[in-house]
Amino acid sequence: MSDLQAAAKRAVGEHVASMISTGMTLGVGTGSTAAMAIEALGARIRNEGIQVKGVATSFAAERLARQHGIVLTTLDESPDLDLAFDGADEVDPAFILIKGRGAAQTREKIVASRAKQFVVLVDESKVVEALGYRMPLPVEVVPMAVAPVIQVLKRLGADPEIRMGKMKDGPVVSDQGMWVVDAHFEGIPDPRHVNDVLLKTPGVVDHGLFIDLATHLLIGRSDGGVDVLGRP
Ligand code: A5P
Repeated sequence: MSDLQAAAKRAVGEHVASMISTGMTLGVGTGSTAAMAIEALGARIRNEGIQVKGVATSFAAERLARQHGIVLTTLDESPDLDLAFDGADEVDPAFILIKGRGAAQTREKIVASRAKQFVVLVDESKVVEALGYRMPLPVEVVPMAVAPVIQVLKRLGADPEIRMGKMKDGPVVSDQGMWVVDAHFEGIPDPRHVNDVLLKTPGVVDHGLFIDLATHLLIGRSDGGVDVLGRP
């Protein structure tokens, strides 16, 4: 990450932390941008004594939230969240997202769907005119169904590959014990169609297209400024 990109991520992290007030129940996102928000929120908890609870979207987010003093809860205890924050890999003009570079998309989507406000934190590099040219679409799959799911993805026009571990032989295993197939498209012209097909495919747990979930988009600029947009 360049210094400029880090500054943009820090700016959106600090901005969303300033939107949080005492008593709120939060969704705590995963990834390097959400980490900046967790850090900034931790500073407010320490310095101002605000009290919040958070549902983590991954083991990674859980560990980081705990380190920064965020009290953790679950959807069993707190099924309705005031605000969830998270990063994204791509966001289009209709606020449809691709998420899941860190393989956390399934829990991230569950948490985002329970939040009154879902605030997406990106730097300018993530804002695209059309989805799926730069980043693959992660699809979380029950391991025994990987071959049929790959066939479905090919019929949708993708070039799918099973995500492999680094410093671990074999596939990446998600926090749910599933595999992740990265579907490389030459653009996704109809994300709603892809969503419908994938959700009807047995063996697909969920995927990284987030449709009609984001309520706010914070775009961090390299000069440290933040553009705040509401869903169109
Ligand atoms: C985690 O699986 C992802 O959905 C991340 O939230 C997304 O990839 C954004 O990550 P960065 O903020 O690290 O770019």
